[in-house]
Amino acid sequence: MPRLSHKDSESVGAAIERCAAALRRARVHFGHGTDNARDEAAELVFFSARIDHREGAGAYGRVLTQAQRRRIAELLRQRTRSRIPLPYLTRRAFFAGLELYVDERVLVPRSPIAELALNRFEPWVEPAHVRRILDVGTGSGAIALACAKALPRARVDALDVSPAALAVCRRNVRKLRLTSRVEPLRSDHFAAVGRRRYDIIVSNPPYVGAREMRGLPPEYSHEPALGLASGVDGLNSVRTILASAARYLRPGGLLVVEVGNSEGAVLRAYPRLPFIWPEIAMGGGGVFLLRAEDLEESG
Ligand SMILES: C[S@@+](CC[C@H](N)C(=O)[O-])C[C@H]1O[C@@H](n2cnc3c(N)ncnc32)[C@H](O)[C@@H]1O
Repeated sequence: MPRLSHKDSESVGAAIERCAAALRRARVHFGHGTDNARDEAAELVFFSARIDHREGAGAYGRVLTQAQRRRIAELLRQRTRSRIPLPYLTRRAFFAGLELYVDERVLVPRSPIAELALNRFEPWVEPAHVRRILDVGTGSGAIALACAKALPRARVDALDVSPAALAVCRRNVRKLRLTSRVEPLRSDHFAAVGRRRYDIIVSNPPYVGAREMRGLPPEYSHEPALGLASGVDGLNSVRTILASAARYLRPGGLLVVEVGNSEGAVLRAYPRLPFIWPEIAMGGGGVFLLRAEDLEESG
């Protein structure tokens, strides 16, 4: 039986502080939807106590029941012992204001592309003109769904090579009632696209190099390697996207790709491409933009 706090009663706020301290002591890695102990502890406590995040700090003064405290203790124990990312234990992740279902078939969504989607890709795109969006390597469907929510006149094709990931994506498309506008499709990169052309192509492809893969914290071993690893230098998938995207973009279309800390490798491999690297206020970065015309000229 998991141990409860030694105190007779505990508030939500106190439980968050206690769990944050325990997460820090256990030296778990934060990188799966939250980037610090306190935020992860808040999700752990809110999930276990079944409190809606919309209540926010207003819930901190509430006194937890014995059952809530027991669930918190059990989840904290699982997280610190197994090093499984918290969203796989709770089966939920928050992305661009959406609550998504996740499990170990998909990467935990955390792409900074969320912010660009929330901003409707302005100022690089005229949102009213966007009709078709393609998400290459959709995983849980996070980016595709964020785009569909932000741009309600757009249809989104959500591609992934992994049938297991697509099953999760379909579940999220249904959960968010976007089946009429978001279509999950099995495809090795652009292979299943046919003659369709898009106003925006977004992708958070796998981009971790072989050496970096070996050094990742244990949390990442619970994610599908297909979502992370991409050859020796991490650029296999990015190269395929850069070589083909122009063919699938409409004139004036925009390519948006996350490459994280492979940014330096991308710049060395493509010194002549006029990449735009937008600032991401929420943190993170390593996302480049390219216009269809710039891709064509370099291709
Ligand atoms: C980094 S994950 C991103 C998932 C999701 N877009 C997100 O941001 O959370 C990369 C995704 O690309 C998929 N993928 C890997 N190789 C692929 C390929 N050749 N064609 C299409 N998708 C691929 C993986 O299955 C994985 O779901």
